[in-house]
Amino acid sequence: MHTLQVSLENRGYPIYIGEKLLSRTDLFTKHMPQRRAAVVTDSNVAPLYLPSFSAALAAAGVELTTIVIPAGEQHKDWHSLNSIFDTLLAARSERKTTLIALGGGVVGDLTGFAAATYLRGVPFIQVPTTLLALVDSSVGGKTAINHPLGKNMIGAFYQPQAVLADTVTLATLPARELSAGLAEVIKYGLIRDLDFFEWLETNIDALMIRDPAAMAYAIQRSCENKAAVVAADEREETGERATLNLGHTFGHAIESGVGYGQWLHGEAVAAGMVVAARLSKKMGMLGADDLGRIVSILERARLPVTIPVMELDRYLELMGHDKKVEGGKLRFILMKAMGQAYLTADVTQDQLASALNDSFKRD
Ligand SMILES: NC(=O)c1ccc[n+]([C@@H]2O[C@H](COP(=O)([O-])OP(=O)(O)OC[C@H]3O[C@@H](n4cnc5c(N)ncnc54)[C@H](O)[C@@H]3O)[C@@H](O)[C@H]2O)c1
Ligand SMILES: [Zn+2]
Repeated sequence: MHTLQVSLENRGYPIYIGEKLLSRTDLFTKHMPQRRAAVVTDSNVAPLYLPSFSAALAAAGVELTTIVIPAGEQHKDWHSLNSIFDTLLAARSERKTTLIALGGGVVGDLTGFAAATYLRGVPFIQVPTTLLALVDSSVGGKTAINHPLGKNMIGAFYQPQAVLADTVTLATLPARELSAGLAEVIKYGLIRDLDFFEWLETNIDALMIRDPAAMAYAIQRSCENKAAVVAADEREETGERATLNLGHTFGHAIESGVGYGQWLHGEAVAAGMVVAARLSKKMGMLGADDLGRIVSILERARLPVTIPVMELDRYLELMGHDKKVEGGKLRFILMKAMGQAYLTADVTQDQLASALNDSFKRD
């Protein structure tokens, strides 16, 4: 097992990464103020991992409530959140009862938001079971639900007590979900870690076949990158944390534009990163070879590199709900070079329209 620390004054916490951590109840109880917990999971993960996980916790003397929400991005909404509150209240869940998020980013974001608001805040533990959640969403304390008008529009910054990343759970992950997670892994290379990007160019095929050593390295390096960014700018105030949003302005527009659950988050981010790279190229910061490298690695990870057909105005309207909008003006994460992303409002309508237009097809 590997332990990384997210350094945040009095809100810091460990990320445990390793095999078979789901049965390490000592790691859980260590971070629980009382031996009561509510596990939130989804309808796909529940049959796979909930029986053994709850049996292990029960054997460790933890009194447990379980909450199963329907799987899928379209359920990261108000209804699911309310159903969590209904069960917590019916079970007389207390301030010291820990919420445990067992699942992907949808379960993690929902449970985190429930933990931030139930009784004005209760402890929670993230147990990510998708690659995307292991390398990204479980770390950093962003929690939210979607609104029909925009992704993640209602939420809170709320850090967990600990993240327990059991890499064994990846064995059951569908291939399409594995690819979606790789989009966020590749993102770290593009925004701040060129060495890692180059390592990924060499090792992407090994990751696609879930080679354990390659996978363990990619997860650890991704979490290190994420933890460093979060420690530097927890609440997205300096522009540094915003770089984690590379490709997301376009990606979120795709996700809500085609309907939540149609494109996976990681797929939308992959296509969105290509638009961002194209825009960076139009502005003279990336070369054609750089764009080619980005498209190539995404394709090797079986991710989309073109955006779905929607009117340009529709894209602009959807992007207008981006959380980075300031003073009514869109802001973008671009690359000044490979491995160096930054936040800027300095993009003309023409450059934006032309980058989007060029991204409907692969060149
Ligand atoms: N909070 C953050 O910082 C942050 C960062 C990135 C993404 N996100 C959010 O994360 C969400 C995407 O997360 P995701 O890609 O994990 O999606 P997800 O939670 O929908 O999981 C993907 C699918 O895999 C299934 N699944 C989960 N674990 C499994 C396993 N071990 N074996 C088999 N099936 C399994 C799920 O039931 C679901 O069908 C989006 O809502 C996105 O906005 C949040
Ligand atoms: Zn993302």
